[in-house]
Amino acid sequence: MAILNWDEKYKLGIAKVDKQHTEIAGIINKLHDLLDVKDDKQKLKLLIKLIKATKEHFETEEKLMTRHKVFNYFSHKAQHDRLLRILNELLDDVEENGKKVGESFLFLMRDWMINHHRFHDIKMAKELIEKGAK
Ligand SMILES: [Fe+2]
Ligand SMILES: [Fe+2]
Repeated sequence: MAILNWDEKYKLGIAKVDKQHTEIAGIINKLHDLLDVKDDKQKLKLLIKLIKATKEHFETEEKLMTRHKVFNYFSHKAQHDRLLRILNELLDDVEENGKKVGESFLFLMRDWMINHHRFHDIKMAKELIEKGAK
């Protein structure tokens, strides 16, 4: 069951960013579907995929913000960096200490996505579009 329905209402109007958000939400939902499955290797693979997609996505937004001199770049980037630290710490814990990817992590990701969208990405996209980004 999907825990994050990333539907039309989250569309920002910047094609690459919208596509990446949908992809990340898709990975979160896939991981959620796998929670009850014993295959830890598959979960680890998806966690790595999630981290890669998230990193690429943040780079996309940060490049756009730098190119268009978006206001609040640094506080926005600080949020990205904070999540990446959390993700990398979890990956270390899973790989080195055998920690399981659990539901609480997926809820954290879901809430982060929704709140970050609401408080950072919407403003960013509005300014980017005003400045001519697509
Ligand atoms: Fe984003
Ligand atoms: Fe962002």
